[in-house]
Amino acid sequence: MTNKDLEGFVARLTALGGGSGDSRALYDDWAATYEANLQGDYGYVAPAIAVAAFVEACPARDVRILDLGCGTGLVGEALAAAGYGRIDGADISPGMLAEARAKQVYERLIEADLTRPLGLESAYDAAIAVGCFGGGHVGPEHIEGMLDCLRPGGPLVLYMNEIPYDEDDYPAHFARLEAAGRWRVLSTARSNYMAVLERPGWTIVAERAA
Ligand SMILES: C[S@@+](CC[C@H](N)C(=O)[O-])C[C@H]1O[C@@H](n2cnc3c(N)ncnc32)[C@H](O)[C@@H]1O
Repeated sequence: MTNKDLEGFVARLTALGGGSGDSRALYDDWAATYEANLQGDYGYVAPAIAVAAFVEACPARDVRILDLGCGTGLVGEALAAAGYGRIDGADISPGMLAEARAKQVYERLIEADLTRPLGLESAYDAAIAVGCFGGGHVGPEHIEGMLDCLRPGGPLVLYMNEIPYDEDDYPAHFARLEAAGRWRVLSTARSNYMAVLERPGWTIVAERAA
């Protein structure tokens, strides 16, 4: 690992820290070069890590899946490669959604702000959200809205950077949701999600409680 310095969009995103907020304009600007930058320059592998966890949590392939914060569609592409065929995506950035549309792996792409009610109550069998938590993105208080999109018992796989995970004390929010009977956390695992950087993140596998 070379421990490349943070530059450009990745540096701007990292500076946003914890909490939630508005990164839509940043992603619209980044959309066309997002994959070359994150995968090519940094060796971004969070979608592969999260989809491997998703496959274990959701072995049936004929399920309706919602990819939350789908971006340019790297998660949808990995899900399709793993044999899933009924995938919708939701994201706040029209520029990122346009890139995702070009991949032709999503049945439906929804322009949506995950900090607001989505109006998709119990519509999906499973959901996945990779890289959309933290400053300028979605906060821990928005996990409940993600759960609302799922049928009871449906798996939800999250992948997030360790900075917001620690700064916003995600484990405390997880425990609160569990105590409130909203979900059950099945596993949490730490990994490094960039090949050329020390960049730790967490996979959370949970299911909506009845
Ligand atoms: C780091 S990218 C991750 C994209 C994709 N999941 C991946 O792993 O490549 C974060 C995505 O979250 C989206 N996003 C940020 N805030 C959002 C919000 N409030 N509602 C919906 N999407 C949001 C951004 O537009 C961006 O596409």
